[in-house]
Amino acid sequence: MRPLLESAAERALRYLEKIGNRAVAPDTVAETRLRELDGPLPEGPTAPERVLDILDERCSPATMAMAGPRFFGFVIGGSLPITLAANWLAGAWDQNAALYRVTPATSHLEQLALAWLLELFGLPATSGGAFVTGATVANLCALAAARHSVYEKAGWDVEADGLVGAPNLTVVIGAEGHPSVFKSLGLLGLGRGRVHRVPVDGQGRMRPDLLPDMDGPTIVCVQAGNVNTGAFDAIDEICARAHGADAWVHVDGAFGLWATVTPTLAPLVRGIGDADSWATDAHKWLNVPYDSGLAFVREREALRAAMAITAEYLPTETEHRNPSDYVPELSRRARGVEVWAALKSLGRRGVAELVERTCRHARTFADRLADAGYEILNDVVLNQVLVSFGDGDTTERVITEIQRDGTCWCGGTVWQGRSAMRISVSSWATTDDDVERSLEAMLRCAHAVGAGS
Ligand SMILES: Cc1ncc(COP(=O)(O)O)c(C=O)c1O
Repeated sequence: MRPLLESAAERALRYLEKIGNRAVAPDTVAETRLRELDGPLPEGPTAPERVLDILDERCSPATMAMAGPRFFGFVIGGSLPITLAANWLAGAWDQNAALYRVTPATSHLEQLALAWLLELFGLPATSGGAFVTGATVANLCALAAARHSVYEKAGWDVEADGLVGAPNLTVVIGAEGHPSVFKSLGLLGLGRGRVHRVPVDGQGRMRPDLLPDMDGPTIVCVQAGNVNTGAFDAIDEICARAHGADAWVHVDGAFGLWATVTPTLAPLVRGIGDADSWATDAHKWLNVPYDSGLAFVREREALRAAMAITAEYLPTETEHRNPSDYVPELSRRARGVEVWAALKSLGRRGVAELVERTCRHARTFADRLADAGYEILNDVVLNQVLVSFGDGDTTERVITEIQRDGTCWCGGTVWQGRSAMRISVSSWATTDDDVERSLEAMLRCAHAVGAGS
């Protein structure tokens, strides 16, 4: 297997070494050539080196350069080299990371990474934690724990008896909550639509003065980092109100939870440690490879009650943490390996520096685009920038032109009725020079479509 795996590593290195100099989006020729893969299921074998060759020749050119330094779409980090290396090694280990007694190394690394993350975020050290695919599933896990806990207090065993005939449970969420939270609520039988939506301000922050009276089993979902504006709900004020009514507070902090790592952003996250559960991503700001999300729950037993299973054939008995007790899956890959590697390699200072640097890049984008006469629609408090190049049609044409130009890649959105281009700076790889090159391209493209002066 050595020549094959060395060839894969060599090809991967070549891909990454060129990623900063290619167009960020794949061109239509590369996309069209994917069709050459089409055909019936092969009857016989193909040599592994040939299979690898097809993947590299046909598919590498048709990838989006998300791992590169000038991809600013959605909220997407690259992969720190050490996290990719850890991912390769863990791939070779091929551990089914469910149970400590079967896979002690990966279980131990997850236990360590969990303790470090709780310390880094300033969350209670005894919290339960789950290493999952992303913030969507992290929201699902945390809300499953919330559902367990509030129903337990109401004298209802929701895992055993389900929701038919259960007491009423109220869910409160801001009108700009991320769709993945609504989806999680739907999956948990709490309904995407039967939630109480609290109106928001111009940045997408829940208006605490419009919180409903809370009475009976209640879960309040707050947001740390709106996907468009980067804005934070007033977590301290909302926690105080909710806890006064014995409600559970869940924080969707897919990227915003990382603001806790630096004192410069502390005012945004005031009170975040008062909440009951938190969801975040490691594949965003921690820059580990896809996929990697994290859930934390103050009441560890509530998460366990919602997730753990036993079976006669499973060696679950141990004094150590069994990863599968805290996640929806039984069999799963050991996502904590890359998280541990990132934290070990960066240290607290390195994580803070990564967050501060990307926020500084976002402010540079905003300042320079504003200086050029374009309107910044959000308060740039984090790593997200929303820019309008004029009316909706003009803004969309600029975005198309920027994507076609290929120097960088930004996506579009509609923010409270206005078309905007989103710039999300989340990658370790973005340098000052990348910001300059991207700004030049943005302004060139805006002029090319006649936007502004
Ligand atoms: C605030 C927020 N919540 C949840 C999610 C979903 O995260 P994921 O795509 O990792 O599941 C996102 C994604 O950007 C987000 O910004």
